Amino acid sequence: MSSEKTWSGRFNEPVAELVKQYTGSIDFDQRLARWDIQGSLAHAQMLCEAGVLSAEDLQAIQEGMAAIQAEIEAGKLAWSLDLEDVHMNIERRLTDKIGDAGKRLHTGRSRNDQVATDIRLWLRDEISLIRGLIRDLQAALVDLAEAHAEVVMPGFTHLQVAQPVSFGHHMLAYVEMLGRDDERMADCRKRVNRMPLGAAALAGTTYPIQRETTARLLGFEQICQNSLDAVSDRDFAIEFTAAASLLMIHLSRLSEELIVWMSPRFGFIDIADRFCTGSSIMPQKKNPDVPELVRGKSGRVIGHLMGLLMLMKSQPLAYNKDNQEDKEPLFDTVDTLVDTLRIYADMMRGMTVKPQNMRAAVMQGFATATDLADYLVKKGLPFRDSHEVVALAVRHADGMGVDLGDLPLVALQGFSSLIEEDVYAVLTPEGSLAARDHIGGTAPAQVRAQVARWRSLLQQPL
Ligand code: ARG
Repeated sequence: MSSEKTWSGRFNEPVAELVKQYTGSIDFDQRLARWDIQGSLAHAQMLCEAGVLSAEDLQAIQEGMAAIQAEIEAGKLAWSLDLEDVHMNIERRLTDKIGDAGKRLHTGRSRNDQVATDIRLWLRDEISLIRGLIRDLQAALVDLAEAHAEVVMPGFTHLQVAQPVSFGHHMLAYVEMLGRDDERMADCRKRVNRMPLGAAALAGTTYPIQRETTARLLGFEQICQNSLDAVSDRDFAIEFTAAASLLMIHLSRLSEELIVWMSPRFGFIDIADRFCTGSSIMPQKKNPDVPELVRGKSGRVIGHLMGLLMLMKSQPLAYNKDNQEDKEPLFDTVDTLVDTLRIYADMMRGMTVKPQNMRAAVMQGFATATDLADYLVKKGLPFRDSHEVVALAVRHADGMGVDLGDLPLVALQGFSSLIEEDVYAVLTPEGSLAARDHIGGTAPAQVRAQVARWRSLLQQPL
């Protein structure tokens, strides 16, 4: 492959070696090759239909590109830094293979609209993959919710025992979060799926291009309606990274909980050995490395979001080389998300739940105090008064080192004469759970209803 620069006629001296390395992007943007070829083929076909390119040239381009695609897949294409980026590497390889027809491919386009098109085509596919992975993780969590709808655990506020909740309900909270993450991905994909091609360098082109044709061939839902905007903005990439950041934030919260729950002080769960590591010095250790890394990697993705925002800030219209810096953070965001979601679904499927330990923790925190207050309200006491009565009962039980449900009836009646034998039904965690029986409540019946709702939602097409 010859390595003569595309614009060499304008220059008196070759680009300095360090500058070549500094400005080149081939090391990372070769990842876009498949989508670059896809875009070129559609462009060539459109040029042919518009009468700008001959049918023979189109055929040569199609055959040449098929061969190049095969070379890339076989790892046989030698990427050259002299040719700067994926676009010029592929174009030069094509020209080496088919001659002048290859040189005609770039008619009516620029690398500026080409690269913006490539990233959008690539990201569109990645978003679809990510959406499938989000749903798979949701499915794993829904399975856990169904299996553990009746399992009581302490629900926390301020990380203090608050009220009993179903472990299944807790899992479904994350299913909801992930559901919104999926919605954001779907919504963002609509704006990714718009075609910049045809904007050329920045002002459009003098050839009779038919952008509707190219858009149809590439499956774009819309065409970018302003050439300056089309080549310059990367808001779609920022939007995607913002959605990715929120997803990672959600997973960082679940990770934090898994880490705490796996600590022997809690002992609520166990994570399968294949997701943990030991210590090189402490033989007893089994560390929840995967959730810890997910927690850490959320910072990495948010860093990419900040990087992309700053990349765009104050950029004048239209294309600027700054935009070449969009790729590494985007690629890394996608890779981090894909790996995290895959490993997470597997990890949740391999998790052991320990209901006895959860229930024991519920019994240690006066988790049914609100239930006692509600009980008294239903017997006619105003809520503020009943709150006070229960506070005194809790103080008494705490002093005795027992739970409210362990106090004898006479002792409870000492705090309010409204208390009768039936109080014990509300003082158990199971009674507390079952009583919260409305949409969004933690009653096992509601958990099962949500499981059914999610099962049908997850079956709907993407
Ligand atoms: N490698 C470049 C990028 O990623 C392609 C577009 C370059 N265009 C230009 N006029 N220098 O943004």
